[in-house]
Amino acid sequence: MAVDHTRAPVLEALADYRRRGRLSFAPPGHKQARGADPAVREVLGDAVFLGDVLASGGLDDRLSRGRVLQRAQELMADAVHAEHTFFSTCGSSLSVKAAMLAVASPHEKLLIGRDAHKSVVSGLILSGIEPVWIEPRWDAERRLAHPPSAGEFEQAFDAQPDAKGALITSPTPYGACADLRAVAEVCHRRSVPLIVDEAWGAHLPFHPDLPSWAMDAGADICVTSIHKMGSGLEQGSVFHLQGDLVTPALLGMRADLLGTTSPSVLLYAGLDGWRRQMALHGKELMGAALDLAAEVRAAIEKIDGMHVDDRDDFCGPGLADDLDPLPGVIDIEALGITGYRAADWLREHKSIDCHLTDHRRIGAQITHADDHETAAELLAALKDLARAAPELRPGPRVEVPLPSELRMVQARLPRDAFFGPAESVPVSEAAGRIAAEMITPYPPGIPAVLPGERLTEPVLRYLRTGLDAGMNVPDASDPALKTIRVVTRDSG
Ligand SMILES: Cc1ncc(COP(=O)(O)O)c(C=O)c1O
Repeated sequence: MAVDHTRAPVLEALADYRRRGRLSFAPPGHKQARGADPAVREVLGDAVFLGDVLASGGLDDRLSRGRVLQRAQELMADAVHAEHTFFSTCGSSLSVKAAMLAVASPHEKLLIGRDAHKSVVSGLILSGIEPVWIEPRWDAERRLAHPPSAGEFEQAFDAQPDAKGALITSPTPYGACADLRAVAEVCHRRSVPLIVDEAWGAHLPFHPDLPSWAMDAGADICVTSIHKMGSGLEQGSVFHLQGDLVTPALLGMRADLLGTTSPSVLLYAGLDGWRRQMALHGKELMGAALDLAAEVRAAIEKIDGMHVDDRDDFCGPGLADDLDPLPGVIDIEALGITGYRAADWLREHKSIDCHLTDHRRIGAQITHADDHETAAELLAALKDLARAAPELRPGPRVEVPLPSELRMVQARLPRDAFFGPAESVPVSEAAGRIAAEMITPYPPGIPAVLPGERLTEPVLRYLRTGLDAGMNVPDASDPALKTIRVVTRDSG
């Protein structure tokens, strides 16, 4: 049966709810904005409250007999060539955990690229899954990790034939992509599933010039944040499933463990609307975004001291396999300032916010929402930043370890180290001890330290010098990083 992508079941049901003037004696207590504080209504607008209704017993009936959510999910699945789609209102942080729990059980092994997001590590801590870390492809010159190759997964499966599956992050927050088809083949030769953390890839299915996406490449489960590169509201995430290695019932059960019983219909509406927008206009919108990104990238390249990382920088032997050009990653090493300082200056002096920042880069992501006006503001601000850079120097330097120094030994299961007996020690005494916490520079959100790893001096120095230079480390137990939580010496 032909699928009708002009429909948007959640949005239609919301419009119907209003048209009928339904009166609720159920949550949410604001009851269509009537009870909300007028000062709040003024800032948020009533649309937020009008769209905020119960999913079952509000948007749909008590038993969800209208299949509102199911129909919206089916349309999304069709749009991205998946067999099943699940909406999540708890971000990809939930979706990725649901995927992991559907593939491996406590104490079973999962192959995971070590450049995984902290939500994956939280999944390990909660589940007790044993990670088999796969080395990313390190660019020693730029001090940057790209996704692991298929060959690395192949070797790891040879060494750990009992591993239950694999998880890879592609694209990375830097836009670097793996050869997903090859990684999926490696998994499927062993009849185990591949999970792709495609949090940054909401837009990929909608233009042929963008890198291929997980479902088309044959992955089994793929997780996507629709709020990152798409038009979803913050926390709107989807996960897709295909093939017969994981059943939809099992994946749904695992997700149910983690989800809320009060999902936000606003977020569902954002996901539903994004799918319709992309199914109807995606190619044209993404084509325009790609053209604009190419112009912006070329213009940034002309600014003294700035370089936009391109395929030549990120792709090739030992590096990534493909590049998404929309998350424009600007290397400002030649300006002699860190990305942290540059981002702070852009926000304070130009009211421009970047997402990605690290010791030598800032990210200026272009999406289908941008146009020549926003691009011109960005470019003007970047030119001013380049002019202001001499006054911002010298800043504290971040001592970024070499790839060989960055990796630490996983001495304990993340779960055991996190929940077992622990103590806080001065950071100067922490080298050699086993971490009992996660320490993550954010963004991009890849833990430098995770529970169970034996701490080393280069990594501790990186975090200390990074913090002095403005790195954001929101999950450390001591935000000043004067102490670190480690496993007590006598605990096994
Ligand atoms: C690679 C990756 N995976 C998962 C997540 C979690 O996504 P969310 O913020 O939607 O929970 C992020 C968030 O930054 C991410 O970068």
